[in-house]
Amino acid sequence: MQYILHTKIMLKNTTIKTPPSEITLYIKTLLFGLSIFGLFYGYTSWLAIPGVLNKSAADTAVFLMGASMLLSGICYFWNIFDPLIRFRKHLGLIGFAFGIAHLALSFSALQSLLKVETWQKGLMWPALTGLLAMMIFTVMALVSNSRTARLLGGKWWRRVLRTGYLALILVLVHVVLLKSGRWMTWYQNGMETLPSLSLLISIFMMVVILMRVALWLELKRKQQ
Ligand code: HEM
Repeated sequence: MQYILHTKIMLKNTTIKTPPSEITLYIKTLLFGLSIFGLFYGYTSWLAIPGVLNKSAADTAVFLMGASMLLSGICYFWNIFDPLIRFRKHLGLIGFAFGIAHLALSFSALQSLLKVETWQKGLMWPALTGLLAMMIFTVMALVSNSRTARLLGGKWWRRVLRTGYLALILVLVHVVLLKSGRWMTWYQNGMETLPSLSLLISIFMMVVILMRVALWLELKRKQQ
């Protein structure tokens, strides 16, 4: 009798950890993404900068996709963050969805690429860098499933996903071209308000890129 009771208590206390389902991971990431979007929307509205919806969508896209890339470095250097690595794909894909929303809201800027005048005046770079980045992110989104991973083989699959860093550099150029004038004015006016989100998100992109360089150097050092 005592043995049965003991076994029952043991069973009750044992939590058999099953990994969360894909749908749970997507829902959690979506809620996180929407919270970030809400935060960015509130901040940009508070700064009374126009075009809040488009800007918040663009910045959320960068934040989520950047966080997805940042996770490999963070989890390598600090084991405490290891449980978060399972969100990598979901962060990337939900961030990509925000990127599509930004693209849809910037359709007129995209259309400017179809005008000869844009190219003649050399005004194509902001939209062109954004478009190239979006193309890379689209390829990444298309291959981010286990079937394509098996088809490509681990080595090539990882290589394709690494092009995300090139896309991030293109986005950084895109934002600097569009926003650096505003940043300068803000700086010259004595930085009376809090910085715009575009400046903060650009610093974040630099952190993501630097973290990848740090990881690459560390892996190289270990190989020697
Ligand atoms: C063809 C592709 C793209 C076009 C035509 C485009 C167009 C634009 C335009 C017109 C703005 C200025 C918006 C404003 O000031 O209200 C902007 C800003 C921005 N774009 Fe893009 N974009 C493209 C792709 C991308 C991609 C792929 C990303 C990254 C996921 C991105 C991230 C950003 C960011 C972070 C800003 C600054 C938002 C802010 O001011 O806070 N863009 N883009």
